[in-house]
Amino acid sequence: MKLINIADYEKAAQAKMEPMHFDYYASGADDEITLRENTAAFGRIPLHYRVLRGIEQVDTRTSVLGEALALPILIAPTGFQKLAHPLGELAMARAATAAGTRLILSTAATTPMEEVAHAAEAPFWFQLYLYKDRALTHALIERAQAAGCSAIVLTVDTPVLGQRERDVRNGFTLPPGMALGNLMSTAGAHLPTADGSALARYTQEYFKMSLSWEDVAWLCSVSRVPVLLKGVCHPEDAVQGVESGAAGIIVSNHGGRQLDTAPATITVLPRIAAALNGRGALLLDGGIRRGSDVVKALALGAQAVCIGRAALWGLAVDGQAGVTAVLHLLRTELERTMALCGVQRIEEITGELVGE
Ligand code: GLV
Repeated sequence: MKLINIADYEKAAQAKMEPMHFDYYASGADDEITLRENTAAFGRIPLHYRVLRGIEQVDTRTSVLGEALALPILIAPTGFQKLAHPLGELAMARAATAAGTRLILSTAATTPMEEVAHAAEAPFWFQLYLYKDRALTHALIERAQAAGCSAIVLTVDTPVLGQRERDVRNGFTLPPGMALGNLMSTAGAHLPTADGSALARYTQEYFKMSLSWEDVAWLCSVSRVPVLLKGVCHPEDAVQGVESGAAGIIVSNHGGRQLDTAPATITVLPRIAAALNGRGALLLDGGIRRGSDVVKALALGAQAVCIGRAALWGLAVDGQAGVTAVLHLLRTELERTMALCGVQRIEEITGELVGE
């Protein structure tokens, strides 16, 4: 089958992957209402296109936190990428660099960050989970900075892991020999045995449940690179985030994997953008499957978006080449949407396009 959109890649990935591993990537929490809404909400936003603007070529270049990007799409942090392809995070990092964008590397990567940085041959962003063990957390931050990370993305929506029922039923765990590459010398390298999701048990054992604004202040005080908070869906949290020293906010509900019936991210973005009023970088993830979704997120106030599952489907289908193909596909859709909307450059994508 010819793969011409992200939905095709998802089907092809499902056909290739172990059902337990596919379910881990594909699933959301509980009834998966937020998972579906993240995507469905984009479909309900009309694009009020303009015509006759004489556009010959569109330009998708932009910058986030002063970093030049060839397109406003970063790779969201997703765990255990070797479940999709033997080269896992290495393939993902190489594809991100080749496309002129950034990989946000997960704490729960299956490859040590130093190896990923070497493969990327470019800065990467590092997604951080705060461990109960502060020294361990600090060591992760120091290593990430030494390896060349240019931003730290703190996940703030995971005091406990959302109940992904598919994982519970499947008894999700990693295959023998696969581990958390960033934690190799520690007890936290391996998922514990569990009756249900081994990741849920791991989160309970290792992650700091009582995450608070004091942790954000601590992180901002020890980090030498900008800190972004990922998992924010409320304007007041976004404002408190930048006032606490964060350089930016990623509007996210963890791909619908944490609190089910949390709002679709695109629906809360306008209020968050208004509350921030230009303070800090503003990104969004959740439900991006089309270039037109990227345009809508930018029109509603984001500077860039992150793709998680879409990139994983590409990785599963064909490793680095698959991720490259997915990024190319989304970029082409983005360019086509911009041309059809009558905008030539990223900064011309404004609220007018979504009827504001
Ligand atoms: C981990 O963050 C996950 O969503 O599985």
